[in-house]
Amino acid sequence: MTTRKPLIAGNWKMNGLLGDGAALAKSLTERMGKGGETASLELLVCPPFTLIARIGEVLAGSAISLGGQDCHSKEKGAHTGDVSARMLADLGCRYVIVGHSERRTDHGESDALVAAKAAAAQAAKLCPIVCVGETESERDKGRTIEVVGRQIAGSVPGGSGAGNLVIAYEPVWAIGTGRTPTTPEVAEVHGRIREFLTGILGAEEAQMVRILYGGSMKPGNAAELLALADVDGGLVGGASLVADDFWAIARATPK
Ligand code: PGA
Repeated sequence: MTTRKPLIAGNWKMNGLLGDGAALAKSLTERMGKGGETASLELLVCPPFTLIARIGEVLAGSAISLGGQDCHSKEKGAHTGDVSARMLADLGCRYVIVGHSERRTDHGESDALVAAKAAAAQAAKLCPIVCVGETESERDKGRTIEVVGRQIAGSVPGGSGAGNLVIAYEPVWAIGTGRTPTTPEVAEVHGRIREFLTGILGAEEAQMVRILYGGSMKPGNAAELLALADVDGGLVGGASLVADDFWAIARATPK
């Protein structure tokens, strides 16, 4: 029996100013302090770059981890407007989301670039959360497993293992739409992702890698999704901006 500590990650996206971001983080630290959830659950918030330093101060001394939403593939240099993995680590981040579908779409990020970003994160001792997921038309054409398999093969860098890799399965059509796949559909994709990881990392490491589900995860559907065998947590967008909702999702993880 493998134990993978569930990870509930909040992806704040391009939301929050200093005041409301700090208030949100503070209310999470107050809740996290109460229930003794730290042993059974890892909670992570990924604010926009502008808030990371401030949120890091608010989270200091709490069990809540801090992460970025993207990083550059290079360690440093002439890349105006970009942020390196090392800069994130310098602010106390432990994780960074890479290859989110909004980055793949808005910024044309390829699997190869996502793999390079994930490798840069690992080199800076951050754990990349590598996002994969099919579009609606790909699902309609029955290509979900093929697409996700290709993304995993192309986006997971060599040298990855359970200690420095998290995968997030986020069907693009489920993000921010209030729609989700059925639980058997989620179970199938997560199972196949674990098989793909087994092919890349070997069975032992693949068994320990956490695979998160993302896309319209809410308090009302979290328990059902998080109960699935290969769903090891959630990557939560909209609901992570409301402390009560994010906390309700965290509480829905099976003990
Ligand atoms: P959502 O976003 O929860 O708002 O659907 C999830 C994500 O994009 O990470």
